[in-house]
Amino acid sequence: MTAGSDDRVAGLYIHIPFCAQKCAYCAFFSEASSGELVNRYVAALIRELELVATDLKPTTCFFGGGTPSLLNLRQWEQILRAMERLQLLGAEEFTVECNPATVSLDKAKLLRSSGVNRISMGVQSLDESLLDRLGRIHTRDMVFKSFDILRTAGFDNVNVDLMFAIPGQSREIWRATLKEALALGSEHLSSYEVIYEDDTPLFAQMKAGEFDVDEDLACDMYEDLVEAATASGFHQYEVANFGREARLESPSSIPPSPRSRLPGDNASVPSLACKHNVNYWRGGSYYGLGPSATGYVRGLRTKNWSNTQLYCEQLEKGIRAIESQEQLPPLRRAGETAAFGLRMNAGWLFNEFRRVTNFDLQTEWSRDMDQLVQRGWGRRTTDRFRLTDRDLRFADAAAEMFLR
Ligand SMILES: C[S@@+](CC[C@H](N)C(=O)[O-])C[C@H]1O[C@@H](n2cnc3c(N)ncnc32)[C@H](O)[C@@H]1O
Ligand code: SF4
Repeated sequence: MTAGSDDRVAGLYIHIPFCAQKCAYCAFFSEASSGELVNRYVAALIRELELVATDLKPTTCFFGGGTPSLLNLRQWEQILRAMERLQLLGAEEFTVECNPATVSLDKAKLLRSSGVNRISMGVQSLDESLLDRLGRIHTRDMVFKSFDILRTAGFDNVNVDLMFAIPGQSREIWRATLKEALALGSEHLSSYEVIYEDDTPLFAQMKAGEFDVDEDLACDMYEDLVEAATASGFHQYEVANFGREARLESPSSIPPSPRSRLPGDNASVPSLACKHNVNYWRGGSYYGLGPSATGYVRGLRTKNWSNTQLYCEQLEKGIRAIESQEQLPPLRRAGETAAFGLRMNAGWLFNEFRRVTNFDLQTEWSRDMDQLVQRGWGRRTTDRFRLTDRDLRFADAAAEMFLR
């Protein structure tokens, strides 16, 4: 531990492992909650926070899940009070994920007044029958109502999550959802193509031949997404993420840095990008607390048990519930960092990569970059390598080449 020193870890992720009901596509670790287990979990989480607090000075804090908004007011108060006691509040960006069915004005006000300044709302679709098919617990109306509640509570930095290439989703339905979602005027948009995760009902339906997967349609939908989001003023900064520039008059937003945007390309990060995720993609350290959470602290990767009962038992004994940990060899760590950074439109500035990893992208990965340039996916200039905006969707394939 490095108590009180300046190299304390600046990223904090906390996993809330509960949902009202499991969605058909989702493989995140979460289960339907019982009041007793949630209370036990909250106490265990506070114990885990106590164990790492001296090594933390959060610049970004992210409560994900699962469904963090499922916790009741009392449970939130307990967590936030503990964070205050441990001097973990005051992050520049403090995000809580919400499901539209679980947002209330009381809860939103409590979060806002305690320093939460960003909400990420899982919307997925605004088509009633698709919401039903996905097993979502909310209607489209609840999305609009929750969004209004968040604004009333004072949130001026809200992300909306959408999914595309959902079975049964036509291009027209997708375009209509996009149009309505963009009309909400959120500050951030995340939109992922459906991933068929093992052991989910949607995966089983696909395997049983209940629907066909249409890759061409998925590509068209991705193009619709980039086009519509850009036309409504968003800047794409990652394969699936779009942010706006902060309005200067907005009190809790961070003004755009003059360094952050370069003319003529998208090699930039908008000021309302999710800073917490940018830290992941830039190879920064973060603690991951709660069942199933992964962390990455100075090259040490940890993964907590994906079992809430076991998580609580361990913490009740005063030990962290770490299932596995691995100290990555420096070159492998640098390769992964290179790969993550390629997900961003900005790619890597060679200088920055060297500062973060102590490796030189231009010597160690020169052939890989050349290959990507030849394939037409990559662009290499004197100071930077990045994928072209159009070919960012091949980031996963490109990333493979950088792993060592
Ligand atoms: C933890 S959830 C968001 C918060 C909340 N649990 C909710 O669903 O409303 C994170 C996001 O991951 C995305 N996601 C989850 N499973 C996915 C899958 N199989 N394919 C694509 N996106 C997925 C969804 O957009 C979801 O909003
Ligand atoms: S998408 Fe969100 S609400 Fe649905 S099961 Fe996953 S974590 Fe829970």
